[in-house]
Amino acid sequence: MTAMSSRHLSYGFIVFSCILVAAARTVTPEVASITNYGSVLDQLNRDSCSSSRWTPSVVLWTCRDSQTFQPDGNPVDPSIANTASFSTLPSSPRNPQNLTLSPPQNVGELFYKLEADECPPLGLCGDSRWVGWPDTGPVVTSTGVLGAVNAYAFIARQQLSGLAVVQTDGYSLYRVTSAHAGPQLPTTKVEVSAFWSRTEIGYGSAGSVLHNGYAYLYGATPNRKLAVARAKLGLFGRLEDKKAYEYWVNGAWTRNAPLLNDTSIVLENTSAIQGTIYWSPKWESFVWIGGDFFPNANFYVSTSPKAEGPWTPAQLFYSGAVGNGSLPAYSAIAHPSLTDGTGDYIFLTWTKTRPAPNGADLYDTPLVRVDWK
Ligand SMILES: *[C@@H]1O[C@H](CO)[C@@H](O)[C@H](O)[C@H]1NC(C)=O
Ligand SMILES: *[C@@H]1O[C@H](CO)[C@@H](O)[C@H](O)[C@H]1NC(C)=O
Ligand SMILES: *[C@@H]1O[C@H](CO)[C@@H](O)[C@H](O)[C@H]1NC(C)=O
Ligand SMILES: *[C@@H]1O[C@H](CO)[C@@H](O)[C@H](O)[C@H]1NC(C)=O
Repeated sequence: MTAMSSRHLSYGFIVFSCILVAAARTVTPEVASITNYGSVLDQLNRDSCSSSRWTPSVVLWTCRDSQTFQPDGNPVDPSIANTASFSTLPSSPRNPQNLTLSPPQNVGELFYKLEADECPPLGLCGDSRWVGWPDTGPVVTSTGVLGAVNAYAFIARQQLSGLAVVQTDGYSLYRVTSAHAGPQLPTTKVEVSAFWSRTEIGYGSAGSVLHNGYAYLYGATPNRKLAVARAKLGLFGRLEDKKAYEYWVNGAWTRNAPLLNDTSIVLENTSAIQGTIYWSPKWESFVWIGGDFFPNANFYVSTSPKAEGPWTPAQLFYSGAVGNGSLPAYSAIAHPSLTDGTGDYIFLTWTKTRPAPNGADLYDTPLVRVDWK
C-alpha cells in the first residue's frame, strides 16, 4: 500500500466517523406553536382516520367503522368496517379552516373488501365480527404519468368478539390503485391473501415510510412493540414480491422472515399503540408519533437516525381534548401527508367521541397543526 492510498484511507475514515457522529445525534423535538384547525368534517360518522398523500394535491383518507345518519341524528347500524375519502391540503396556519372529506364512497361497501372466509360483505357471523380495520394509510410506492398511483395496504385478517380478539389469521396485501387523476376513489383488490401468515409479524400494518429507495414496513410484536422489515423499491414500486424483503433480526438485516415470537426482532423504546412513522428532513431522522393506552388523546414523539433504531424514549408533547362517549378519545394519528414534507410541522388528529341521542358513539376528528422549534 502506498503512502498516498493510506492517506486517502484515513481521510475516508475521518469523513466516515463524522457521518456516524452526525447520524447518532439525538434529536429532541420541541413544540414552537399549536394551531387549532377545528375538525375533519364528514357526511359520515367515521372512526380512526389515517391518511396518505395520493397525488401532489390530493390526500387519501382511510377510516375504520363508518356509518350514515338517520334523520334523528342517530348513526345507522351496522357499521361499515372501513371506508375511504379524499381531501385537499389544509389551509395556511394564518387562516386555519376545517378540512372536508369528500366524496363518501358508495357506503355499504368496504374500501378493503373482506375475503371469502371472513363473512363478507360486512364480516358479521354469529356473535363475532371480521373487521379489516386499517391502522395506517396505504403506502404509495409510485405515482406515474397522468396521475396513475400504485399503493399497498397490509390488513389484518382479524375476527373480534366485542373488542376481544378471537383470532388474527395473518395479514393480506391489498393493492390500491388509481388509473388516472380524478374524483373517483381508488380501487382495491386482495393481491396476496395472508401475505404474512399467522406466525409472522404483520409488517406494514402498523406504519410505513419510504426512504432512500426502500419501503420500511412496521408491525406489532406480541408485547406491543414494533418490528421492522424493508423492501427495496424497484422501478414500479411493487411490494408483492417477497424476494425484495429483508427483516431486522438480532441487530442485522436478513432475508429470512422471523417468527412473530422471536424476541430479537423487538425494537427498543417503540410502541405499537396506534401511531405514524415518517422521515423528517429537518431532523434527518425517522419520527414516530402515537398515543398511549386509551382512552385519551396524549401524543408522544420518538426519533431515530435509522428505521431500525436506536429510537429515543417517547416523550409527551401534546394532549388533545377528550369527549364524553363510551371511549372518550383514542387513535392519536399524525399526518405527514398534510405537510410540505420539510418536517418543520406536522398535523395531528384523534377520535373524540360523544353520545348520539340513542347513546351510540358519534366520532369527531379534531385537527391540529404542531410547528416544531
Ligand atoms: C368548523 O366547523 C364547525 C362546525 O361545523 C364550526 O362551528 C367552526 O366554526 C368551523 N371552524 C372553522 C375554523 O372554520
Ligand atoms: C414460537 O412460535 C413457534 C411457531 O408458532 C413455536 O413452535 C415456538 O415454540 C414458539 N417459541 C416460543 C419461544 O414461544
Ligand atoms: C431506550 O431508552 C432508554 C431510556 O429510557 C435509553 O437508556 C436507551 O438507550 C434507549 N435504547 C436505545 C436502543 O436507544
Ligand atoms: C357531551 O358533550 C357534548 C359536547 O361535545 C355536549 O353537548 C353533551 O351535552 C354532553 N353529553 C353528556 C351526556 O354529558
